[in-house]
Amino acid sequence: MDAFSTLIRTASHEQHTEAETSTFMSDLLGGRLGVEAYARYTEQLWFVYRALEDGAAALASDPVAGPFIQPELMRTAELERDLAHLRGPDWREHTAPLPATAAYAARVAECAASWPAGYVAHHYTRYLGDLSGGQIIRDKAEKTWGFARKGDGVRFYVFEQIPNPAAFKRGYRELLDAVNADDLEKQRIVDECKRAFALNTGVFVELGSEFPLSA
Ligand code: HEM
Repeated sequence: MDAFSTLIRTASHEQHTEAETSTFMSDLLGGRLGVEAYARYTEQLWFVYRALEDGAAALASDPVAGPFIQPELMRTAELERDLAHLRGPDWREHTAPLPATAAYAARVAECAASWPAGYVAHHYTRYLGDLSGGQIIRDKAEKTWGFARKGDGVRFYVFEQIPNPAAFKRGYRELLDAVNADDLEKQRIVDECKRAFALNTGVFVELGSEFPLSA
């Protein structure tokens, strides 16, 4: 079997392209949507990261998921600062998950509570993506809506405690390669990763119908 980090990247390549080229993402990154759409997307991320990070503490000593739990990755506080900037201090009072977001967060919470290896799939799909393509999204967002470079509005994409993302990603891939799981369980993790991508695409579909481009 190839290194697990290679396997999971290769196996999710197609879903990655699908997520990346979804109508909502293309419109957002193409500068065709207003800051309201970006704010709504950021809100959805908040629900997902709450599920990822509320579950993290209890998994810190888990033999499978434990090595992946690293405080420098945590995004909830950054999302909250971004949302306060985007929506004002009372943003919590009028925020709600889209149905697809609720389903995504529920699946993450379910894995966190009962299947640590499945949680690893969700962890990989979000955090390695944020450290990669997230940087492209930040750059576009700064230019499109005028946020200060690495400032309020885009703090979610700024990992203050990870000065060298490329090195961090290499270390992360080593963790994946050493994951405490047999081949069958690794295959299940890959399947859950594909599901994680599909859950992301589902959120993009609903955001796309909330923010259609007037033809
Ligand atoms: C327009 C949106 C996106 C762009 C431009 C983008 C771009 C990229 C790029 C350039 C890489 C390669 C980084 C490298 O080789 O080191 C990458 C990796 C990755 N992206 Fe995305 N991405 C986007 C959306 C997403 C989404 C929605 C997800 C899932 C939630 C995601 C998850 C990942 C993951 C997990 C990796 C790491 C692959 C690996 O090396 O194992 N990306 N992305």
